[in-house]
Amino acid sequence: MLLKIEDIRTGYTGIEVVHGISLNVPAGSVIGVIGANGAGKSALLHAICGLLPHTGKVLLEGEDLSSMPTYERSRKGVILVPEGRRVFPGLSVQDNLLSASLHKRSRSRREEVLASIFQTFPRLRERLDQAAETLSGGEQQMLAIARTLMGCPKVIMLDEPSAGLSPLFVQEVFRIIGELRKIGLTILLVEQNVHHCLQLSDYAYVLEQGKLALEGEAKALLSDPRVRQAYLGSAAETA
Ligand SMILES: Nc1ncnc2c1ncn2[C@@H]1O[C@H](COP(=O)(O)OP(=O)(O)OP(=O)(O)O)[C@@H](O)[C@H]1O
Ligand SMILES: [Mg+2]
Repeated sequence: MLLKIEDIRTGYTGIEVVHGISLNVPAGSVIGVIGANGAGKSALLHAICGLLPHTGKVLLEGEDLSSMPTYERSRKGVILVPEGRRVFPGLSVQDNLLSASLHKRSRSRREEVLASIFQTFPRLRERLDQAAETLSGGEQQMLAIARTLMGCPKVIMLDEPSAGLSPLFVQEVFRIIGELRKIGLTILLVEQNVHHCLQLSDYAYVLEQGKLALEGEAKALLSDPRVRQAYLGSAAETA
């Protein structure tokens, strides 16, 4: 198993919001995590990358990262694209990308990785000298994902990559995630857009109030009456 999460508990200043979650992320898969607002999805991702203190284990290829700080987990290859498209607004696209390959493993592969990024995101190559703040929301999301790739991730964790984007860019972001999976990346995908998320994922977990309520093959969850009723509603009929 590439990434194994065992019995993670985490929260904020004494309030536990994730109550013992375990999940498996096999190499090359897209694993979805869905759940209502406040279910603990972001808290879970933050714990996995070490931004929130937690108990339980984070195992990457069997190595226990649980006591490592965020930068070390990221150097090992567990990298988060946080909610809200974090890029350096004043820096050019090029500088945003270059500033993301800081450690040795990624610096030595910089040219090769850049070339593959430009293949996936030709739009970014066209805008290399443009300041990130002048990109559209969708382009900023592409840049945020591309910056993560500069760090040579083994697992990329995406926290609501389609949030706040226009329908056209929502399609584009899911297309890109599909591309990333084709080049063999392993993805842990948190999404409000349950329909798209389940269509793209191999397997998915449903979080309710900090606990796992349901898990299964994504295609099976798409037609599961509990998922349809709680998360798809009428959208499922029209999509
Ligand atoms: N900084 C914080 N301090 C205290 N409580 C917080 C903090 N951030 C989040 N919480 C609480 O933790 C719980 C889980 O929040 P989390 O952000 O993980 O939810 P989520 O599933 O990502 O929701 P959303 O879909 O809205 O992003 C919520 O009850 C939330 O109010
Ligand atoms: Mg969240």
